[in-house]
Amino acid sequence: MTILTHHPLTLPTPLGGTLVNRVRSAQPGELQGRPALELSDRSYADLEMLASGAYSPLTGFLGEADYRSVVERMRLADGTPWSIPITLAVSSEEAAKARGVVALTRQGEPVGFIEVSETYTPDKRWEAREVYRTEDVAHPGVAALYSSGEVYVAGAITLYQVPRGNFPAHHRTPAEVREVIEARGWRSTVAFQTRNPIHRAHEYLQKVALELVDGLLLHPLVGTTKGDDVPADVRVKAYEVLLERYYPRERTLLSVYPAAMRYAGPREAILHALSRRNYGATHFIVGRDHAGVGSYYGTYEAQEIFSHFTAQELGIQILKFEHTFYCKTCGQLVSPRTCPHDGSHHLVLSGTKVRELLRAGEALPAEFTRPEVAEVLREGYRR
Ligand code: ADX
Repeated sequence: MTILTHHPLTLPTPLGGTLVNRVRSAQPGELQGRPALELSDRSYADLEMLASGAYSPLTGFLGEADYRSVVERMRLADGTPWSIPITLAVSSEEAAKARGVVALTRQGEPVGFIEVSETYTPDKRWEAREVYRTEDVAHPGVAALYSSGEVYVAGAITLYQVPRGNFPAHHRTPAEVREVIEARGWRSTVAFQTRNPIHRAHEYLQKVALELVDGLLLHPLVGTTKGDDVPADVRVKAYEVLLERYYPRERTLLSVYPAAMRYAGPREAILHALSRRNYGATHFIVGRDHAGVGSYYGTYEAQEIFSHFTAQELGIQILKFEHTFYCKTCGQLVSPRTCPHDGSHHLVLSGTKVRELLRAGEALPAEFTRPEVAEVLREGYRR
């Protein structure tokens, strides 16, 4: 009797069933005489996410019915889970000429186009309240929302070329990440979203997860972040240095995630997870205050919000981790689930404290950050 121990490798289906691909080369003269819209960094990142299939099943910027449905109930009008409206904001003057096929430009050069289906005026205060849970302009996501144009332009998009950005060696579309996963034969892949420099707690979460699944997709976000976050090039460099020494090469893939950060906490955790499913991940890590900023969100709200959806709807398994830190008495990384000691035994450094130490050129404790990473960060702060 033969016992079949290995099933054939099947990657998770993208949300909606098919990986969207709206990238194709420019056809001569196709935008001749067409109006143009200049894209911000954020909108250009969204354009790439849409065109590459990272935001499957979306094929363009949302129309009003989908927008209202996403803001109101975290679903597209057809019921598919979707937590953050992907919209193209322009001024009312720009909106007035946005009809039919409109060129999308960067520094005046067309990078693609949108086939405008409608324009509409959103209620941004309502959007802020529902999506960000605050109208406070000190919130960087709300600030970005309020400072963008007052009209949304909707319609299917086309991108001429995937921009390989500042990290060409690590820049892969969802289809390309899927190819790597297939080539390596990973039957399960855990994705890790991050916008901060890697520290020991991050490494701990990643490696605990890697005890359970075949592959680790390190997926640092490299789109626009708020001014005092550590720049993407420093963060990517830190990963390169660590991967060299401390990660199993064949079970780890470093690839950048081109989206801008919204700091929408719980709602953004859902977007991050659904998008990583599109990249081929079967598991996604959500730790403490995922995608949060300041004290707008509760420590575990970004985990709790997943209960709005069934496992089948999500199509990606969420690995939830409690707050993790170093315990001097245990002599290792722990969480309240694994450590019996009180706070006096623990080493917990806030992001603000870390930035202070770095600015002062001081060393970071090795239990908090590996010395190789601390060196990359110090170097980054010297610039
Ligand atoms: S985020 O904005 O991308 O969420 P960050 O890069 O700090 O910020 O976090 C990446 C992931 O690690 C998130 O899922 C976050 O919840 C988790 N995380 C970060 N630090 C810790 C920690 N000390 N304990 C548990 N989870 C953490």
